[in-house]
Formats: sequence, structure tokens, C-alpha cells
Amino acid sequence: MDLTRPRIFVMMVSVALIAISACNTSPSTPTETRLKAPSAGEIQRAYTMKCSLCHGNDGKLMASKATDLSISTMTAEERVAIITYGKGTMPPQKGILDGAMITGLAEYIESFRD
Ligand code: HEC
Repeated sequence: MDLTRPRIFVMMVSVALIAISACNTSPSTPTETRLKAPSAGEIQRAYTMKCSLCHGNDGKLMASKATDLSISTMTAEERVAIITYGKGTMPPQKGILDGAMITGLAEYIESFRD
């Protein structure tokens, strides 16, 4: 009886399990706490992807009934709230973007004001 074969099989299975567990680091979710605040570039990219569709690159597009961000008088807290929870056709970002990014966007769009 050949005893070496089952051993090789067991070895291969353990190697495979180690390899699988090594790869099984959970992908970072947006709600996870990040170590660093988002950079200006990251905030701008998030704006382009999540906001410019309705608000445009300068905040003035007003598509899908979006308000003109350049004439907005909302406080920073109000902006954070509307970005987090959405309003009307504006989609909420809660659970999609993290708090630091939402605050970053609220600051970023203030630069659209004339
Ligand atoms: C699907 C279109 C749409 C997208 C995408 C969108 N918005 Fe809006 N946004 C709106 C609409 C519509 C309103 C007006 C809501 C209301 O008052 O009923 C609005 C209002 C706002 C306001 C309030 C301005 C004011 O003074 O009235 C802010 C701030 C804002 N959006 C920021 C953002 C940011 C930042 C993003 C990206 C995370 C974003 N929006 C994505 C449609 C959109």
C-alpha cells in the first residue's frame, strides 16, 4: 500500500487552504474608518462620479431638478445632512461614502459659490 499519496494530498489541501485564507482579507468597504482624510483629488473624483451628473462640474447644471450649488446658502451642517440623507431626487450617500468624504464634499462644493 502506498502511504505517500494521501500525505501529498493532505499537504496540497493545507497549502490550498493557507493560500485561500491569505487571500481572504475582506475588501475595504466605504463605511470603514480610513486612516487618512480623503485628498483633494479623491474628493474631486467622488464629486465627478456621484454629483456632477445633476449638479455639473461647477454646481450650476441643475439637471433632474437639482438646485444651483453656486447660489446655495446652506450651512456646512445642512450640506452634510443633505448629502448624507438625500432629498427628493437627490440620492443619499449614507453607507456609500464615508463621513470624511461627505464632509470633504460639503467643503468642496462651497468653492462653487460666486
Ligand atoms: C440625481 C440627481 C442628484 C445627484 C446625483 C446629486 N444631487 Fe444634490 N440635489 C439634487 C436635487 C434635486 C436637489 C434639491 C433637493 C430639494 O431641495 O428638494 C439637490 C440639492 C443639493 C444640495 C442643497 C443645495 C441648496 O442650497 O439647496 C446640496 C448641497 C447638494 N445637492 C449636493 C450634492 C452632492 C455633494 C452630491 C454628490 C454626493 C449630489 N448633490 C448629488 C439632485 C442631485
